[in-house]
Amino acid sequence: MWRTLKHFLLFAVLQFGGFALNLTLLVHAQDQSGFISIDCGLATNSSYTEKETGINYISDESFIETNESKPYWSLRVFPQGTRNCYKINVTRGTKYLIRASFLYGNYDDQYRLPEFQLHLGPNLWDSVKFESASTVANKELIHVPLLNYIHVCLVDTNKGVPFISAIELRTLPNTIYQAQEGSLALDSRYPDDIYDRFWYGYDRDEWTQLNTSSSINTNNTYQPPSVVLATAATPKNVDDSVNIFWLPSDNTAKYYVYMHFAEVEKLPGNESRQFNITRNGELYSGLFAPKYLSVSTIFSLSDWSRGQYITLSIIKAGNSTLPPILNAFETYMVKDFAEPETNQQDGNNYWSS
Ligand SMILES: *[C@@H]1O[C@H](CO)[C@@H](O)[C@H](O)[C@H]1NC(C)=O
Ligand SMILES: *[C@@H]1O[C@H](CO)[C@@H](O)[C@H](O)[C@H]1NC(C)=O
Ligand SMILES: *[C@@H]1O[C@H](CO)[C@@H](O)[C@H](O)[C@H]1NC(C)=O
Ligand SMILES: *[C@@H]1O[C@H](CO)[C@@H](O)[C@H](O)[C@H]1NC(C)=O
Ligand SMILES: *[C@@H]1O[C@H](CO)[C@@H](O)[C@H](O)[C@H]1NC(C)=O
Ligand SMILES: *[C@@H]1O[C@H](CO)[C@@H](O)[C@H](O)[C@H]1NC(C)=O
Ligand SMILES: *[C@@H]1O[C@H](CO)[C@@H](O)[C@H](O)[C@H]1NC(C)=O
Ligand SMILES: *[C@@H]1O[C@H](CO)[C@@H](O)[C@H](O)[C@H]1NC(C)=O
Ligand SMILES: *[C@@H]1O[C@H](CO)[C@@H](O)[C@H](O)[C@H]1NC(C)=O
Repeated sequence: MWRTLKHFLLFAVLQFGGFALNLTLLVHAQDQSGFISIDCGLATNSSYTEKETGINYISDESFIETNESKPYWSLRVFPQGTRNCYKINVTRGTKYLIRASFLYGNYDDQYRLPEFQLHLGPNLWDSVKFESASTVANKELIHVPLLNYIHVCLVDTNKGVPFISAIELRTLPNTIYQAQEGSLALDSRYPDDIYDRFWYGYDRDEWTQLNTSSSINTNNTYQPPSVVLATAATPKNVDDSVNIFWLPSDNTAKYYVYMHFAEVEKLPGNESRQFNITRNGELYSGLFAPKYLSVSTIFSLSDWSRGQYITLSIIKAGNSTLPPILNAFETYMVKDFAEPETNQQDGNNYWSS
């Protein structure tokens, strides 16, 4: 699971324990207002409903601003031009989860993984690299556009032809994931997750899993899905702490972490579960007891340390009879987009407006 840790922890939305999804239950429970789901390379005007999630995808044809592309097996390639953009209408001032997905799949029979850049307007969002031809690279951002549109751009860096498989936008409540500045980046679904965040299973050898078949009250700002909270990691050894750690990908990166807790066991009167949380050894959150079948989220109010390992430890309190638990957590890296979006038309030949 280290690969998962390294790859996803930095930007990711993670889930502990196994999946026990009952998708049918939720498919009709939520609507897709605020969702823009674009399947790049799909034939003009066509659309479809993806079976597992029930999400409606549409063709990217009306969003591309250049005609330098050609559709190919549900991805779109940009063999010409250094910079090619999608212009997508949004509601300015609204918080969006923006996800761009890339699956190479050796579509060109070249067996050469390309490498290129992804930009949001004038700002570098991330570099797109692949671990293999069959791995999906997901790039995600939480962003509040200042204009009524955004530009999602692919920039050729002479390391292969840029392409894109899908672009998805989901609106989030403005109260969720408050960063001090900039936009939040994550790497990780609907319909379990009303905001269509991606959650990944995560496990470590020294952990075991607690679970419940009851549903969990997830009614807080973050609304993590009940199925995600129904499982919790706990140390095999009662006195151990639950530790999660990662090395920041660059030493200027800033991270926000959200830990979600819910007690999944009905505790008898003589048992208690209480813990403290430390970050790199310093007390981060004092004595805490998760509520039975009800979510509590502990999050960082400001950014965290730079350039060194970040270790979070959930430590059993002295008088607690039970070991600590962690049901789910999310980490976000802060991206500083220095260029204002209003500059995004400067020096660009491809944008038509
Ligand atoms: C999923 O949930 C529905 C509605 O509660 C239920 O009828 C169905 O049996 C469940 N399916 C599984 C596989 O648990
Ligand atoms: C796509 O839809 C538009 C508007 O409905 C129509 O004008 C156009 O001819 C359609 N294109 C194709 C290729 O079907
Ligand atoms: C794009 O290019 C193709 C051929 O090069 C042409 O047939 C088509 O009309 C062009 N579409 C637009 C929107 O310019
Ligand atoms: C985006 O908004 C502009 C201006 O309001 C409008 O002209 C254009 O048709 C819209 N594009 C799409 C794809 O909805
Ligand atoms: C909880 O997990 C155990 C094994 O880890 C499994 O046997 C059991 O069926 C699970 N219970 C629920 C309610 O998911
Ligand atoms: C969720 O909580 C809010 C405020 O605490 C409350 O107004 C709302 O009715 C709750 N929703 C549900 C489904 O419990
Ligand atoms: C609580 O009570 C149960 C049953 O009476 C017992 O098995 C358990 O060891 C007790 N726990 C503690 C911490 O005393
Ligand atoms: C947990 O935090 C409390 C203060 O909130 C402190 O008194 C206690 O010593 C801490 N326990 C451990 C095990 O760190
Ligand atoms: C454990 O100790 C803390 C004070 O350190 C106290 O607030 C808490 O109620 C105690 N819990 C139990 C179960 O005794």
